[in-house]
Amino acid sequence: MNEALSMPVSRIRPYQLSLSSSDRAALKSQRPRCLWMTGLSGAGKSTLANALELQLHQLGLHTFVLDGDNLRAGLCRDLGMGAECRRENIRRMAEVARLMVDAGLIVIVAAISPFRAEREAARRLFAEGDFIEVYVSTPFAVCAQRDPKGLYQAARDGRIKDFTGIDSPYEAPLGAECEIDTQALEMVEACRRLSGLLIKK
Ligand code: ADX
Repeated sequence: MNEALSMPVSRIRPYQLSLSSSDRAALKSQRPRCLWMTGLSGAGKSTLANALELQLHQLGLHTFVLDGDNLRAGLCRDLGMGAECRRENIRRMAEVARLMVDAGLIVIVAAISPFRAEREAARRLFAEGDFIEVYVSTPFAVCAQRDPKGLYQAARDGRIKDFTGIDSPYEAPLGAECEIDTQALEMVEACRRLSGLLIKK
């Protein structure tokens, strides 16, 4: 990170806004939360996030999906795939998710987010129970076989480096609230489980 771009936190005094997350959420008649999906590339996170958002939307809930690929096209376009950039990518996604939860929304994050420590740091931004970690645990062999973007092949051929599961690590969650293997579970059932977590818990 360029030193000149950062500013000491000690010089910042957050302004106390009159409205809280609950005030904003009350107008939407919902409990804002962050559902964070982590898993390998090709595990089905984006497909699942999209289907879940559609279902919640049809139920009249106010949502937003923060998808790793989408954010990397804009807010995170300056970041690569090395470990430090991934840590910063996860930090930014977590901060944006937090702002959206403050705005009263139900936020679904879909990102590889391979590092346990950064996911735990993301969890700490939220009130107890407002961060739901979902491990999309579709096995490596299945993801590599699906290879929807041809990236596994490219990584094997050495055309891209730092590829998760090949030459970059993936740390599976130890205490995720939910685990979904998209190979073993129908999409409808997976969405039912996740919306159940968001609505009931
Ligand atoms: S994360 O590790 O920083 O959380 P993120 O989910 O935002 O990753 O982005 C991953 C997406 O970038 C993948 O879905 C894939 O399309 C693309 N991608 C490009 N290069 C790589 C790579 N080396 N490793 C993993 N994904 C990659």
